[in-house]
Amino acid sequence: MACRPAGDVYADFSAFYDLYVGEWLEDLPCYLEYARAARAPVVEIGAGTGRLTVPLARAGISVVAVDSSASMMARLEARLASEPHDVRRRVQTLRADVCELSLGTKHDLILVPFYAFNYLLTPEAQHKALAQLAAHLLPKGRLLIDVFVPYARIERCPSEPLLKVDTRDCRTGDRIRGWNAYSMDTQRQIETRRHVFEVTPAAGSVIRTEFTTERRYSFPAELESQFAEAGLAIEQVSTGYDGRPPDARSEQLLYVLRQP
Ligand SMILES: C[S@@+](CC[C@H](N)C(=O)[O-])C[C@H]1O[C@@H](n2cnc3c(N)ncnc32)[C@H](O)[C@@H]1O
Repeated sequence: MACRPAGDVYADFSAFYDLYVGEWLEDLPCYLEYARAARAPVVEIGAGTGRLTVPLARAGISVVAVDSSASMMARLEARLASEPHDVRRRVQTLRADVCELSLGTKHDLILVPFYAFNYLLTPEAQHKALAQLAAHLLPKGRLLIDVFVPYARIERCPSEPLLKVDTRDCRTGDRIRGWNAYSMDTQRQIETRRHVFEVTPAAGSVIRTEFTTERRYSFPAELESQFAEAGLAIEQVSTGYDGRPPDARSEQLLYVLRQP
């Protein structure tokens, strides 16, 4: 059983994703440090359009880039096509659902960055993904999972759409504005984001696109028992990407898990 809804959950988002995320790369130095210390290749789950994949490969890291979204993978492949040959050859792309991952290889380092784990919408899906990930680790290998827990929105979900991006697409000159409105299902621990993007061309009328994405949040106690069930030991949990210990309200957590 696949652990995400049928179809491409990023089909609508992929066109806006790079503009939405912008130049944000605060997590890269942390992943680079782990990758440089690990045996190659590194596996990156939910590689998306290659925000991390491409800079990792440029820095000399070989990456197996896995994503379930055809539209995100197509963008990664297009991005790789414009890279020099030595960067391109370091990246192997694979369209696969993490719950059904079957690389036939074991790895010293697997990354699940930037909340890709939150796209697993049930505890069963999370459990299945963790079992597959654990099975792909070498003895003593590390699995890094970056998750979010939206404590503030769980307590008080903003009722108004929030402006998240207001930028210019340098390829087309179009102005891109994007808003998120949130709703929380605290029983299922699902946050639904309603995205609205408006594309304003230099000449012409505004094109408006609306769609939703869903992510599941897990509190640390739930995650930590799932990690234990998958036989993964917690080596470190931090917030930010510089090893800072989290507190009880930290909304972003980076788990470093280890195969015993
Ligand atoms: C927030 S994006 C992160 C993309 C990229 N890693 C980055 O940091 O910009 C999450 C990615 O996870 C992928 N994803 C979601 N569910 C997945 C699954 N079950 N298996 C593999 N990839 C999945 C999505 O298609 C999307 O590209």
